[in-house]
Amino acid sequence: MSQEKSTAYQKEPLSIVVIGASGDLAQRKIYPALFALYCQKLLPDVVHIVGFARSEMSNTDFRTKVSRNLTCRYSQEESNEAAIKSFLERCTYVAGQYNEAESFRQLHKELQHLDPDGAENRIFYMSIPPFLFMEVAHALKAADLVNRAENRGGWTRAVIEKPFGEDRQSSDELTSSMGQVFTEKQTYRIDHYLGKEVIQNLMVLRFANMVFDPIWDRASIHDVRITWMEDLSLEGRAGYFDEYGIIRDVMQNHLLQMVALMAMEPPVSLFSGHVRDEKVKALRAIAPVGLNDIVVGQYSAGAMKGKQHFGYLDEPGVPKDSITPTYAAAVLQVNNRRWDGVPFLIRAGKGLSSSMTEIRLRFREVPGNLFKDATGHLSKNELVIRVQPDAGIAFHIVNRVPGLGMQLAESNLNLRYESAFQTKIPDAYESLLLDVVQGDKSLFIRADELEAAWDIFTPILHTLAKDRIKPEPYTFGSNGPASADALAARFNVKW
Ligand SMILES: NC(=O)c1ccc[n+]([C@@H]2O[C@H](COP(=O)([O-])OP(=O)(O)OC[C@H]3O[C@@H](n4cnc5c(N)ncnc54)[C@H](OP(=O)(O)O)[C@@H]3O)[C@@H](O)[C@H]2O)c1
Repeated sequence: MSQEKSTAYQKEPLSIVVIGASGDLAQRKIYPALFALYCQKLLPDVVHIVGFARSEMSNTDFRTKVSRNLTCRYSQEESNEAAIKSFLERCTYVAGQYNEAESFRQLHKELQHLDPDGAENRIFYMSIPPFLFMEVAHALKAADLVNRAENRGGWTRAVIEKPFGEDRQSSDELTSSMGQVFTEKQTYRIDHYLGKEVIQNLMVLRFANMVFDPIWDRASIHDVRITWMEDLSLEGRAGYFDEYGIIRDVMQNHLLQMVALMAMEPPVSLFSGHVRDEKVKALRAIAPVGLNDIVVGQYSAGAMKGKQHFGYLDEPGVPKDSITPTYAAAVLQVNNRRWDGVPFLIRAGKGLSSSMTEIRLRFREVPGNLFKDATGHLSKNELVIRVQPDAGIAFHIVNRVPGLGMQLAESNLNLRYESAFQTKIPDAYESLLLDVVQGDKSLFIRADELEAAWDIFTPILHTLAKDRIKPEPYTFGSNGPASADALAARFNVKW
């Protein structure tokens, strides 16, 4: 997002350490994203990628494991096999214990062996369960892997994955204890939604087009709706999901980031600090969600695409009395001059009828509408920003049907990314990893942004747990609980 990105790419030698390299995220997302950057020559010429985890594996076994997920859309100049071979030659593996400084000293030795004269520019990507973050951070520090680089003209960057805590207090504790090891400047909190192409375009859409800016407020916009839905269940992550639930897993991070980008004022410049200042201001203007502002649901058994699915409580690994929501819908009020009275309705759920993410802005009725009789049954203007699948932007307008007589119909101005742009859309992790390499922090969550986001949801999360509020059941494969429609209807909105 920042202009810094389009200038010279990082050319200094670089080591990227993936901690938790044996895991799902590393194998499915991080290594393929690094490979895509490598194929596009966006990594420095001297780059070493070192995997670290407890599992015992030789370099050869590790490379075989990594190679299973490597496909690259960008290796035009050489065959994919040649690119894979040369990429894998740069990948090595060190087995060790996450809480042992000695294991990280071995890692240090490996890094020095790989690049004895380098400036020690290093990225540590913590692709591990969050309860391990602190012990790894302390072990890295004890092995002199954090500050040594800075003292020798290099840099250290630590990437951490959500969830960043479970509420405001635990998030503050994590920030403060990570702060004992890494400075805020060294910390990159990743929310992969911010790397998605359409999300990266939101600021461009709003601030580079004169047509939207004057109507982007309470005078013209009736409501904003953001939907995140999945037709999947737990995908083998019952332990994680039952502890966190949909509010912590999706709403507090991905959806609030989209709200912030939709609601924020124009930043002074594209400098990452300025962008994040405006996002924080927008989040701070949102009142904490109360019990009256939210609906929580949990899927029950149902059939979809000819397949019968368990209800949440019958999923392997889920306690029979779990009150973890698999669905939530909430209304947010952004209490500032621009948005006063405009409901921001957000919903997220698993086990629904389809998988998609989109943002919809509905505009107000045309005052004194000349065509009232003809348009009465038509929907209002709506801007639809489709994040996934089929990334694109559509504008619903009312149009005269060509022919004799006055007949009006809804039509779409449609920008479909796939057909409009002759370029491949990079995966969100490619984009974000390139930003880490470049040191561009615009798309990473700053500590105060995280605080503001937790302040919106922490009180309701505590109430739901303390009062053991049972989520409303909805059938797997449906559109969610009926009360979510009633919540939207209170604001004269249909999802
Ligand atoms: N997977 C995703 O799609 C996804 C999406 C968004 C965010 N995240 C976040 O990204 C991070 C990594 O996710 P992941 O799905 O890759 O995790 P994972 O596969 O469960 O764990 C990564 C590695 O950590 C080690 N590990 C796992 N459980 C451990 C335990 N109880 N004690 C010690 N080591 C353990 C394992 O390596 P060894 O046994 O070899 O040490 C494992 O290969 C997590 O913070 C997760 O919340 C993941």
